[in-house]
Amino acid sequence: MTTLQGPVGSGARVNPNAYAEAKDFLPLKGIDYVEFWVGNARQAAAYFRALWGFTPVAYAGLETGVRDRTSYLMVQNDIRLVLTAPLTPDGEIAEHVRLHGDGVHDIAFAVDDVRSAWHETTSRGARSYLEFAEAGSDEDGTLRRSAIHTYGEVIHSFIDRSEYHGAFAPGFRRVKRPAAAAGGLSLLEIDHCVGNVELGDMDRFVDFYRDVLGFAQLIHYDDKVIHTEYSALMSKVMTNGNGRIKFPINEPAHGRKKSQIQEFLDWYRSPGTQHIALRTEDIVGTVTRLREAGVEFLKMPHEYYVGLQERVGDVGVPYETLEQLGIEADRDEEGFLLQIFTRPIQDRPTFFFEIIERHGSRGFGVGNFKALFEALEREQAKRGNL
Ligand code: FE2
Repeated sequence: MTTLQGPVGSGARVNPNAYAEAKDFLPLKGIDYVEFWVGNARQAAAYFRALWGFTPVAYAGLETGVRDRTSYLMVQNDIRLVLTAPLTPDGEIAEHVRLHGDGVHDIAFAVDDVRSAWHETTSRGARSYLEFAEAGSDEDGTLRRSAIHTYGEVIHSFIDRSEYHGAFAPGFRRVKRPAAAAGGLSLLEIDHCVGNVELGDMDRFVDFYRDVLGFAQLIHYDDKVIHTEYSALMSKVMTNGNGRIKFPINEPAHGRKKSQIQEFLDWYRSPGTQHIALRTEDIVGTVTRLREAGVEFLKMPHEYYVGLQERVGDVGVPYETLEQLGIEADRDEEGFLLQIFTRPIQDRPTFFFEIIERHGSRGFGVGNFKALFEALEREQAKRGNL
């Protein structure tokens, strides 16, 4: 594998051949949906509608004949989030919520052949979650699904919608007159999903995504690049062949104090999905409206912005605006990106969102890692978890 030096000096190694190296035994068209298992799906749906501008499109629950769970499908452009809560005290959803709090259960892939996806992955070592290839039929057709386990309790479903024409899936019905969503937001698609795994497990899951799903390694950030005075982590970014699916995998590294990855693992009680980045083409307008709606973001100190313009150059937005909104900027040889991170969106210090606007750069903002992790550590310290 050819490697070249990363844009900002040591520690970031980019693999320029990643897309060519990805194997095509399992063609994944993209992310079909991400499902969260939560304590109260109705309230979570209201949160995503009122603050984040998602539209409730489909619903499953008692009124549609589903008696063990309630689900809402929330949509914005190409982003589909499913929010599911248990209706009974037993069963895997209630157990998941008891153990983890709210969190990601399923990152689902759109495929042409769920049977082949299941065989190709399980024959390469994936643990099956669901072999059965027909998730159900109703008057709208047949939705085909199979699923495998990945890190922690997260699963990957394989979904084939070619013969299904309903709102989302059997058991769901269309929301007739969706309540107006918060306006003016332009979140377009899922850019990447980050998994946090235990110390020593990063390479195991890098191998998993390479050997089982045919992904290739795009970038390696070692603990020399991802560290602060106190703590460190390591990260490798895996991508599928068409580049639409990007999964950074993080593990904690030893430092003088507790890594933010370890804080996640302690409170989530297992490996899990740490954050999902949503891509926009108007980060300034989007973050302005999210802030007005009450979404809380990580605070970047004034010092972060000192000298930033000299390092990153023109980004089409005044740097005073970036600082006012707390948006970070970074540049590599391909272009630049703008990004921002929310605080955790549930009570436990676990899952959060990133919003990202890309202009040529396919990176992850390595130039911001140190300032970002220091910001995270200030929050960790407030929680008594550093
Ligand atoms: Fe990210």
